[in-house]
Amino acid sequence: MNTIHARALAACALMLTGVAAAHAESASTATERAAALAVIKAGFADASPEWTARLKQDEAQAVCSQYRNEPPAKVRQKLEKAQLATLVYPASGKLTGDWREGERVAQEGRGLQFSDAPGGPVGGNCYACHQMAPKEIAFGTLGPSLYQYGKLRGNSEALVRYTYSKIYNSQAYAACSNMPRFGHQGILSEQQIRDVVAFLLDPESPVNQ
Ligand code: HEC
Repeated sequence: MNTIHARALAACALMLTGVAAAHAESASTATERAAALAVIKAGFADASPEWTARLKQDEAQAVCSQYRNEPPAKVRQKLEKAQLATLVYPASGKLTGDWREGERVAQEGRGLQFSDAPGGPVGGNCYACHQMAPKEIAFGTLGPSLYQYGKLRGNSEALVRYTYSKIYNSQAYAACSNMPRFGHQGILSEQQIRDVVAFLLDPESPVNQ
């Protein structure tokens, strides 16, 4: 019995060591990151200077790459705090707009991609990652379903503010989120974000039917 116990304990210890080792390996080295960046840059060799400027990571992106999107709690909290400090709200104080326009923003997948003409439409491509209005049956599942977002959560001032802020800078609430920082990185305009907020919260919006 004792031997079996001892073996079981040893096996557990080995498993734990394995976990610890795997964890230690999960942070990438500077050399690995430099090699990855070189490959990415080579892929955009004939891109315009405006495009290649986007290959330079900001501090949040660099930290996320370093920890393969899973930073330790302390680093995560620091990153979220710094991203929270970037939030900018409309001077008018109005955080919602027109849900019909917001639906177009959510559906529009073009803008800022390598093959997109500069000056063309720029959208949020929300359906690439989220379920929203039920009539749209092609959606990605990387993000949670937002179907009935307003119907389920209500329409409080705090929720409107959170929704605007989350879309403005997703990493203020979830460091290393896969969701683009639409306002912070200038992908969507203030008006577009307000319209998308309305699309998620307005009781008339197809999202909430
Ligand atoms: C590339 C994928 C991706 C795209 C594009 C994307 N999101 Fe997200 N979104 C996520 C992921 C992943 C989460 C969950 C993790 C997190 O909270 O950041 C999320 C979370 C959210 C949340 C928070 C949900 C909650 O329960 O609090 C909202 C609101 C949201 N997204 C709205 C949008 C809107 C609006 C758009 C389009 C303008 C959009 N997202 C585009 C990936 C994406």
